[in-house]
Amino acid sequence: MARPGSSPWPRRRWADRATHRQSPRPSNARPLHVHCTSAHLTLPAPSPTVPTTTTTFLYKSDPVRGRQWAGVFRERAPEIDFRIWPDIGDPAQVRFLAAWEPPQDLATRFPQLQVLFSSGAGVDQFDFAALPPALPVVRMVEPGIVQGMVEYVTHAVLGLHRDMPQYRRQQQQGEWRALPVRPASSRRVGVLGLGSLGQAVLEQLRGLGFDCAGWSRSRHDIPGVQCHAGPQELPAFLARTDVLVCLLPLTDATRGFLNKDLFAQLPAGAGLVHVGRGPHLVEADLLAALAVGQIGDAVLDVADPEPLPPSHAFWRHPRIQLTPHIASMTQPLSAAGVVIDNLRRFHAGEPMVGLVDRSRGY
Ligand code: GLV
Repeated sequence: MARPGSSPWPRRRWADRATHRQSPRPSNARPLHVHCTSAHLTLPAPSPTVPTTTTTFLYKSDPVRGRQWAGVFRERAPEIDFRIWPDIGDPAQVRFLAAWEPPQDLATRFPQLQVLFSSGAGVDQFDFAALPPALPVVRMVEPGIVQGMVEYVTHAVLGLHRDMPQYRRQQQQGEWRALPVRPASSRRVGVLGLGSLGQAVLEQLRGLGFDCAGWSRSRHDIPGVQCHAGPQELPAFLARTDVLVCLLPLTDATRGFLNKDLFAQLPAGAGLVHVGRGPHLVEADLLAALAVGQIGDAVLDVADPEPLPPSHAFWRHPRIQLTPHIASMTQPLSAAGVVIDNLRRFHAGEPMVGLVDRSRGY
């Protein structure tokens, strides 16, 4: 990871991004201060000897949310020319782009682009091969997304833990029958993927008293959570997991990860909460595992494709609860603040939060 001052990209003079809205300031003026969520951003005054240009931050996603981003930028970074697609202004001034789906011709259209921000937590929608190789790509790591995911997964795990799908089926049959109530401490929850979302989810579940474990490709150390790493530790993780939560990033290594071999290593009747990406799951393998009771119930927030075709077996399956990819969404107000903080880091040559390792794909 880059140390402050050892950024892999050239440090930019703040004068590069000086405002077109501010009136000229004398060279001996005091630095400008812009409020960020965690720190004051101190900007050197523009030098009269350096020609000033506009810095455009282009937002290409839902325009309604974009207007909320614009409000935050106006307040905290007024020197930035914030624009919402398709109002791109002068393409040569676009230094920063936040997008879910960037334009195909990004490299030629925005020759001065310095950072690409994903407007969501994932970056699997980007075609890395089509992006300039040195362009930094940043995932959205912001408190609103984290909170949404914590809420969704906690709800799903508690529902499975307290047999809610079974009570729903019983209700449909007019059956009044109590099942044993187990303490949370006897329910073993396992989270695949230990990034910021996985860690926040585990912290909440651990607080509710569940017996928590996590698995990821690389070694993690999370207080109160048994952490497993790498393929060699996956079987032990699966063997102790009554409710499996998938929060993996989608990469070539994780496509089809939720398959029959994996399901067979879980205790019989395990629950599945899938909040990763549709292509993690081999759908036929889940249907087969549900048919024999190897998986007891599944809560799926993602599918492939989205939406599923009307005839798809998942829609009406009695042991599948399906939601339309709503587990968590970027919250515009907190997201814009996090991005402004990252711009400050970028200009200071510090590592940005959520910077993607393109060799890993997340
Ligand atoms: C949603 O799935 C996201 O990546 O933010």
